[in-house]
Amino acid sequence: KVYTDYFFYEPAFNTHDGGYIPLEEPNVEQQKLKVPELLTPDKETDTDMYYTVISQDGEAQIMPGEATKTWGYNQALLGKTILFKRGKNIHVTVKNELPELTTYHWHGLNVPGDIDGGCHTPVYPGESKVLNFKCDQPAATLWLHAHPCPSTAEQVWHGLATAVVVKDEHEATLPIPRNYGVDDIPVILQDRRFHEDNQWDYKADYDPDGVQGPTAMINGTVNPYFDVTTQKVRLRLLDGANRREWRLHFSDDLEFTQIAGDGSLLTHPVKFTHLMITCAERQEIVVDFGQYKPGDEVALYSDDVPIMHFRIHEFAEDNSVIPDTLFEMNTPKVTENTPVRKVVMSGMDEEVALDGKKFDMERIDAKQTMGNCEIWEVTNTNDCENGMVHPFHMHGCQFEVLERDGHAPYPNETGLKDTIGVNPDETVRFKAWFDHPGVFMYHCHIIEHEDGGMMAQIQVDDPDHPQEFHLTKMDDL
Ligand code: C2O
Ligand code: CU
Ligand code: CU
Repeated sequence: KVYTDYFFYEPAFNTHDGGYIPLEEPNVEQQKLKVPELLTPDKETDTDMYYTVISQDGEAQIMPGEATKTWGYNQALLGKTILFKRGKNIHVTVKNELPELTTYHWHGLNVPGDIDGGCHTPVYPGESKVLNFKCDQPAATLWLHAHPCPSTAEQVWHGLATAVVVKDEHEATLPIPRNYGVDDIPVILQDRRFHEDNQWDYKADYDPDGVQGPTAMINGTVNPYFDVTTQKVRLRLLDGANRREWRLHFSDDLEFTQIAGDGSLLTHPVKFTHLMITCAERQEIVVDFGQYKPGDEVALYSDDVPIMHFRIHEFAEDNSVIPDTLFEMNTPKVTENTPVRKVVMSGMDEEVALDGKKFDMERIDAKQTMGNCEIWEVTNTNDCENGMVHPFHMHGCQFEVLERDGHAPYPNETGLKDTIGVNPDETVRFKAWFDHPGVFMYHCHIIEHEDGGMMAQIQVDDPDHPQEFHLTKMDDL
């Protein structure tokens, strides 16, 4: 079966938002897609990996003419891809060379609250700190981004976001592309407005429902092309935009296969011609260019605007078949005693709230015991005509989606997820459990909604090792 629709509620697509800024085809020549290099470990042993991640400012040549002033990790804009191998002890020195405080949030990583990098763990200008944790979760595409309260959106807009790839032994045995940079690439989808002299101006573009720009930027490249030299290419799609959701399809309605979501492979591959991705989600797809010949060009569109081009070169025939079963879910069982937790996302623009409240760094909104599975019921109370799809995200865990309004989830919502788009007037049910203690944020991932208070925090206690958690106060920052 090949799915040809976007699943989400059409009246809630961002194209209907009052402040919607349509994408425009950029008036610049095609440029070679920047594929971020893999970050070189400072050291790696059989058991440990050591990295240094520096937040810095810089200038990036994105448009012809003036370079754009940007922020990034270990480079001017965005960052290098950080590879974690499952089972290894990871040591990351994070260093802040920016003029203001930042945090290092590992979106999707299963780690204790003090490593997670939410707003309680600021790193001040000139400071550094070492994060030690064990990588123990399935192969997936995660990401690193800034998360200081309440300027996450602005820092991400400046460029503080990069892909994180977890590898494991199971994924390594599957017949899917994994030659990084050649047939396996991150595709970080963002949009910007270029003002005078090619500069970005977050304040000028500010919109409480999410900042957007008319120009698609992919891995920091405007109007990119990618040289296809293998029949199959794996795209690790990451919606790194502050607000924009992307409705993706190829020229010729070329079919493609989704193999992974946020936190793991899908249980089974799913074939699509059209696919919507909401803010902060990841979708890994394998595109088979077998029907094309050298010299052909295939375009990737969002709605009706081409955002990326694939130039077909000579390639060897590839008859590999993606297996029907990619991943076994091994998640806690739900019983009649499993507690149910209700969460409500409400409002638009300045009125956004979570459970009727604005985020407060000094208030714990909920508690869950480490290891205990709970059913989370997340409702979006927007109405369909005027509302939007709010992408609900949880820190510190990966969840399993059970239902959308009593119906089966969308076919590509198998496997583990940490972010899920909730339609207006819809309730999504999933089961969630935490493997580590700490204080974790949960929020809408339209980043201006998060900064605007559509966020709360949960304290996860380890009954065997009770501990006090230090909450950073806004006034102390
Ligand atoms: Cu992607 Cu609270 O973050
Ligand atoms: Cu996160
Ligand atoms: Cu929202």
